[in-house]
Amino acid sequence: MTQPIGISALSFHTPHRYVALATLAEHHGIDPEKFSRGIGQDKIALPGHDEDVVTMAAEALAPVLAAHGTDGIDTLIFATETGIDQSKSAGIYLHGLMNLPANMRHVEVKQACYSATAALQMACAHVARHPDRKVLVIASDVARYDLDSSGEATQGAGAVAMLVEADPKILEIGTVSGVFTEDIMDFWRPNHRSTPMFDGKYSALRYLNALVEAWRDYQAGGGRAYEDFARFCYHLPFSRMGDKAHRHLAKEVGTRADAAAVTPGLTYNRQIGNCYTASLYLALISTLETAEEDLTGAHLGLFSYGSGATAEFFDATVVPGYRDHLLGARHGEILKSRAAVPYDAYTALWQSPKGADAARVDMPEEAAGRFRLAAIDDHKRIYADRGA
Ligand code: HMG
Repeated sequence: MTQPIGISALSFHTPHRYVALATLAEHHGIDPEKFSRGIGQDKIALPGHDEDVVTMAAEALAPVLAAHGTDGIDTLIFATETGIDQSKSAGIYLHGLMNLPANMRHVEVKQACYSATAALQMACAHVARHPDRKVLVIASDVARYDLDSSGEATQGAGAVAMLVEADPKILEIGTVSGVFTEDIMDFWRPNHRSTPMFDGKYSALRYLNALVEAWRDYQAGGGRAYEDFARFCYHLPFSRMGDKAHRHLAKEVGTRADAAAVTPGLTYNRQIGNCYTASLYLALISTLETAEEDLTGAHLGLFSYGSGATAEFFDATVVPGYRDHLLGARHGEILKSRAAVPYDAYTALWQSPKGADAARVDMPEEAAGRFRLAAIDDHKRIYADRGA
C-alpha cells in the first residue's frame, strides 16, 4: 500500500479592510443585486500600501509554524501572479521574515490562478520521494482590475498557507489528475501593466470548456466517478462561477447538479473576492470549515483553472481527526473583525504609493496585523515583524 501524502495545515489570511459591493453599485448607479446575485459577491478585500503577497503569506503561515514547527521542512514553493520582483522569489523574503531554517529550497511559480495547484502537486511528488520531508506551499495574490472596468467587482486579496507531508492530518491528495492546456488570450498581464487585460465573457466560457476537458482526462486516467464526490471545490474568480461550473460538470456527466455539494465552498470567497491562485484553496478551507456534518472519509473533487490557460481536476479525501487541525475560529475572527471603507478611501487604497523610483519610500502604517512592508529603500523591500 502506498503511503498517503497530503495536507496537514490549511491557513488563510486576508487584509482587514474591504469595500462592500453595495458601495460600488451605489457609486456606479447600478442594481446591487447584479453583484450579490449576478456574480455572487458581497465584498472586495483591500490591502493597505504596506501589505503585499509577502505580508499576507506571513500572516497565513504564522499559525502553521506555531502548530507544526519547522522540523523536516526542506522546501517552500510560493505561488503567485502578483509577484513583487522579476528575479527574486517572494518565498525568500518570506523566509527572512519568518526566520525559516537556512537549509531549505525556495522557488516562486506562476501560471495565472493555476500555479498553487502545480505547487501542491510538486510538493506531493517531493514527499513521495522523501517521506521524512515536508513542504510549505504558499498561494498569495492581490486581484486588482482597472477602476470602472467590468472586472472591478471581482477584485480581492488573500493568501493560503499549506503544509504538505506524509500521513497528512487533514486531506490525502489523490494520485490521479486530469489536465488540460490551450494557448488563449482570455486574461493576461504584460510586464508593463499593473492591471490585467481580459476578455471577461470569453474567459468564463474557456473556464467551462477547460473543466470538461480536465474532467474527461481525469476519467480517462482512472479517476473517481462523479457520484463518489461529497463536495466539489472550484477556482472562484467570483462565487457564482462555482455554481455555473458545477451545473456544467453535472450536465457533462448527464445528471442534475446538487447545489449543496458546492455552496459551503463559496462562503469565504463571497466575502473576500478573487485571490487568484489562492482562490481554489480558500474554497477548500471554506468547504471544510463551514460544513455542519463530519466529512471524515469524504471525497472532494477540486478544479483548478489559470487563464492562458491551464486546468487540472484532481481529488482529495478527508482523513479522520481533520477537524482538530482546522483553524475555523481564527478565520472566522479575521472575517468578523474587518472594517468597511467608503468609496473614496477604496480608490485611495487602490492607487500605488507615489514615488516608487525615489531613493526611499516609507509606507503609511495601514496593515493591522503582525507583518508589514515598512519601506522600499534603494529599491529593496524592507519588511517588519511587529511581534505576535
Ligand atoms: P459584466 O459585464 O459586469 O456582467 O461581467 P454581466 O452583465 O455579464 O452580468 C453578470 C451576471 O449578473 C449575469 O448573469 C447577469 O444576468 C446578472 P449570467 O448571465 O452570467 O447568468 N445580472 C443580474 N442578476 C441579478 N440582478 C441584477 C442583475 N444584473 C445583471 N440586477 C464578468 C461579468 C464576470 C464577465 C466580469 O466581472 C469580468 O470580466 N471579470 C473578470 C474576468 C473573470 O473573472 N473571468 C472568470 C473566468 S477566468 C478565471 O477564472 C481566471 C481568473 O481568475 C484569472 C487568472 O486565472 O489568473 C480571472
